[in-house]
Amino acid sequence: SAAEKGGYDYFMLKEIAEQPKAVADTLLGRIDAAGSLTLDEVRISASELREVDKVVIVACGTAFHAGLIAKYAIEHWTRIPCEVELASEFRYRDPILDQQTLVIAISQSGETMDTLMALRHAREQGAKVLAICNTNGSTIPRESDAVLYTHAGPEVAVASTKAFLTQLVACYLVALYLGQVRGTKWGDEIHAVIRDLAQIGRQVERVLQTMEPVRELARSLAHKNTVLFLGRHVGYPVALEGALKLKELAYMHAEGFAAGELKHGPIALIEDDLPVVVVVPSPRGRSVLHDKIVSNMQEIRARGARTIVIAEEGDEAVVPYADHLIRIPVTPTLLQPMVAAVPLQVFACELATARGNEVDQPRNLAKSVTVE
Ligand code: AGP
Repeated sequence: SAAEKGGYDYFMLKEIAEQPKAVADTLLGRIDAAGSLTLDEVRISASELREVDKVVIVACGTAFHAGLIAKYAIEHWTRIPCEVELASEFRYRDPILDQQTLVIAISQSGETMDTLMALRHAREQGAKVLAICNTNGSTIPRESDAVLYTHAGPEVAVASTKAFLTQLVACYLVALYLGQVRGTKWGDEIHAVIRDLAQIGRQVERVLQTMEPVRELARSLAHKNTVLFLGRHVGYPVALEGALKLKELAYMHAEGFAAGELKHGPIALIEDDLPVVVVVPSPRGRSVLHDKIVSNMQEIRARGARTIVIAEEGDEAVVPYADHLIRIPVTPTLLQPMVAAVPLQVFACELATARGNEVDQPRNLAKSVTVE
């Protein structure tokens, strides 16, 4: 009913708007007054966590994209090697697991069969399994050694939005917590990152207030057949997620690429007026990557692409190569996906509407996939 949708036309719009609160709720009670993490709910002891020598993340769809982003944070903050694998592939390839492996199963519903089977396989091999889940008491957390709940509230729309952002928060919390208990050299950085994380909700709010041009742009592209997405570093999984949203909602051919791969094939796809969304890394910090993606934009534009550029406020270097420019707030590199994903959600939702598609219930899809 309209009341359930809180005055929005679709659950998806309501859930996009709820993201600042979902992020704040997921942080709530997990940071103490001294700015340290208190994740006592993660019932894996500090000594067991200190023994971990490998992290393996298993998930499907959007949750898999959250995992791909988490890998950057986990390896950077803990120096523990981290693999990310599609849950549907995992148990069929005889993965190497033992008591020192921490498997993180990410699932909004907690009922995804592929993810459940992957975690069962991991536990049979002696690995510890931590679930990151949005649904209290669902099967995946019940069968795991420990759970860290995302507090996004019920997500009704088939296309995941607020669950994704809170999965990222939960992954960052786990990564920082591992760093904290293990006292890795990044320990000092932890407090600064936690402060930055606490700001993200407000930044997402700001992004949401500037979405009208994105909606207009989406409507103007409703007749297109293909949209490509480019990103690198943590922006690469954001590109994959932007493409997945467009497939699910707009039923368009949409594909995400690592920008560095362009020359190895995808650039052959570029033709006149092809929309290409580019997620630009921050010009600060890893500025090499920023400069490389600016030259990618130059290359594809020279071949006719219409660039839709998502870049930080104040990044002037992108301006000459952007046919459309979507600004996002300045954030630390590893946290950028949380603000960069939001315009892509809005873009896909508006394109779906413009194409006359059912936003909350896309064809052929179910909210939770309980069969293999
Ligand atoms: C997201 O928009 C999708 N509907 C889908 O990819 C989803 O993320 C995937 O099926 C995993 O679901 P889960 O998080 O409930 O396990």
